[in-house]
Amino acid sequence: MFDPDIYARRRVRLLAQMQHGIAIIPNALEQQRNADTDHPYRFDSSFHYLSGFSEPESVLVLVATKDNKPQSILFCREKDMEREIWDGFRYGPDAAQEKFGFDAAFSIAQLDEKLIELMGNQPALFYPLGASAAWDQRLLKLRCAVQEKARSGIKAPDELRDVRTLINEMRLFKDLHEINILRRAAAISTAAHKRAMQFTRPGQLEYQVEAELLHEFCRNGARDPAYTSIVAGGANACVLHYIANNAELHDGDLLLIDAGCELEGYASDITRTYPVNGRFMGAQRDVYQIVLASQAAAIAAAMPGASWEAPHNAALSILAQGFIDLKLCHGTVDGVLESESYKKYYMHRTGHWMGMDVHDVGDYKIGDQWRSLQAGMVLTVEPGCYIRPADDVPPALWNIGIRIEDDVVITGIGNEVLTGAAPKTVNEIEEVMRHE
Ligand code: GLY
Ligand code: MN
Ligand code: MN
Repeated sequence: MFDPDIYARRRVRLLAQMQHGIAIIPNALEQQRNADTDHPYRFDSSFHYLSGFSEPESVLVLVATKDNKPQSILFCREKDMEREIWDGFRYGPDAAQEKFGFDAAFSIAQLDEKLIELMGNQPALFYPLGASAAWDQRLLKLRCAVQEKARSGIKAPDELRDVRTLINEMRLFKDLHEINILRRAAAISTAAHKRAMQFTRPGQLEYQVEAELLHEFCRNGARDPAYTSIVAGGANACVLHYIANNAELHDGDLLLIDAGCELEGYASDITRTYPVNGRFMGAQRDVYQIVLASQAAAIAAAMPGASWEAPHNAALSILAQGFIDLKLCHGTVDGVLESESYKKYYMHRTGHWMGMDVHDVGDYKIGDQWRSLQAGMVLTVEPGCYIRPADDVPPALWNIGIRIEDDVVITGIGNEVLTGAAPKTVNEIEEVMRHE
């Protein structure tokens, strides 16, 4: 059931933080793919977070007035029976105002004229500063139009502020409504990874496994992936952003899958790595156990009060020791960490914020300090190891690429791993892949 109060409460919180001024939050544009075809439309996350509204060509305007009467106003497309025959339903301002609980709603065609009116005598103008050259230009031009009314005693805003500073900090802390959606998204992606494991056989193409993931997303109510799935067999797993997904899977190789669905505007982000033939072989098993242990250490370090760096550092210590044991790195753990020689095999960080965007908004540092983890934050924990062929690398390890990634919510007393049910230990994976 759609509950407009969830979004109204967020608008009130944002307005309270603005204190005074006007905020303009545009929705995303439609993007042409080619000829008469568009990319599937995806709303702007912050616009949706504050409105619950999804139609393109819409703008949210929030006015924090001095007399304590905050206003939220939607600008959206007019009803248009002719266009609706071709493109489908649109609310129109009246129905949108009623259903989504705005104080007022107008046609998007009236935006400029109304903004000149609304900006008058507002001390500050908040919008996503610099996010779009077109919006920068348009709003500065409208501000000029307000300035031209100076002789009638109307002042233009003289403070420009980036509204994202306030919204991003709100979005970093997920409320219960959001965590429930994230849990459901995680459950669908977990089922998809299981299905992929059961389907995988030597001789298949990577995108045939991808089809199984997408099928499971869709049939469970998640129409789109949160990002393009990475389905990378053998050496392709060492290409961090591999999305070609068109190679054949070979007996004896590993398959790395990084895939997650988007559900009701929220992402999930899981990576699992498993053998194409269902059985880990010698060196694969050794490297896998090291990455798995590093991930367990990182998850255990993702606690309220711990630094953002704690999970990364916990993973690094285990990986460094593992790389020494495998003869990939040399010397002591401290020496490997100090010289960063591990970066040849582990070149990314151990996670990122996750929410409406898979790489979600929110600062990682406050001043020059990594921020501390707190209840309601959601992050991924995703250590890995990618070994390309090289003279100084034992050949048995060549082309092994492994990443293990879960989605973690920080709670008041610890954490909740949303995606832990996706098979992860050697035994769990081999069990799920055992064919009759
Ligand atoms: N799937 C994107 C990431 O893992 O960061
Ligand atoms: Mn990730
Ligand atoms: Mn991922």
